[in-house]
Amino acid sequence: MSLLNNPFDPARETALVTGAGNGIGRAIAQALVGEGVRTVFADVNGETVTQAVASSPRPELAVTWIGDLAKRDACDALLADARAAVGTVTHFVHSASPARREADHAFAVSGDTWQQMHAVNLDAGFYLARELARPLIAAREPGSFLFLTSLHAGTPRNLPHYSTAKAAMTMLVRELAKTLGRFGIRVNALVPGAIAAGGFVADPALARHIPLGRLGHSEDLAPMALAVLSNRVSAYVTGAAFVVDGGLSLTNWFEPPELGDL
Ligand SMILES: NC(=O)c1ccc[n+]([C@@H]2O[C@H](COP(=O)([O-])OP(=O)(O)OC[C@H]3O[C@@H](n4cnc5c(N)ncnc54)[C@H](O)[C@@H]3O)[C@@H](O)[C@H]2O)c1
Repeated sequence: MSLLNNPFDPARETALVTGAGNGIGRAIAQALVGEGVRTVFADVNGETVTQAVASSPRPELAVTWIGDLAKRDACDALLADARAAVGTVTHFVHSASPARREADHAFAVSGDTWQQMHAVNLDAGFYLARELARPLIAAREPGSFLFLTSLHAGTPRNLPHYSTAKAAMTMLVRELAKTLGRFGIRVNALVPGAIAAGGFVADPALARHIPLGRLGHSEDLAPMALAVLSNRVSAYVTGAAFVVDGGLSLTNWFEPPELGDL
């Protein structure tokens, strides 16, 4: 049997994807149902998440959930609703994040904007992962969790609320991977480069700095997400961060070399 055939076991495995209404979360959630995995699509935006489910390869496997994950009672409702809809969630993807606005620099960002960024990315990510781990541990079932972090966990973005939330999330992945490994629950990070999704307005001129010559699409992230999520493909992978950026993070103050005639 080919190693990459059947990366999931739809009879036992189920998924929950936050931020599934748009961009990278939508691409991953749609790819999961495409693999036959029953998947909860969670988002604060009812219109986009309903549309994401409707345009899925197999909408009958998708469950729509609408709520604001900055609120703890909404996270509790999501946990209960997901369990009622698909049973124990074995695969968790945390892609929800408020949009980044260039105007929110260090002297402009409001307390609410700061709070919301950390609440959705970090607080909800931690709480949902921990509470999803409990039933897996009780049932002695393996799990696989994936967090969307950022290159700006390690380099400034002029948006301190965003970079600090992603830096903390990067450490959260490593903490959870270490704690949950003994239970067969793997926790990893996916690190996108400049992806023309909804979260930020991509300047096409950026392509000049990307060795592969173009901005990314959300769909560029989905195959790697599936590979890392899959307990068959990535059984021995935890606490790792996978950069999917077309080489953007290789850029520095040196231009690529002139190669002359080859
Ligand atoms: N796009 C990029 O270039 C890029 C780069 C690095 C990291 N990331 C990360 O990848 C993830 C997805 O990014 P994207 O560009 O696809 O974003 P996006 O804005 O297209 O999608 C994010 C989704 O999260 C939802 N959301 C926002 N607040 C929420 C809340 N309170 N409760 C529930 N859902 C909420 C939004 O409605 C939206 O559908 C984010 O975590 C982002 O930080 C993106």
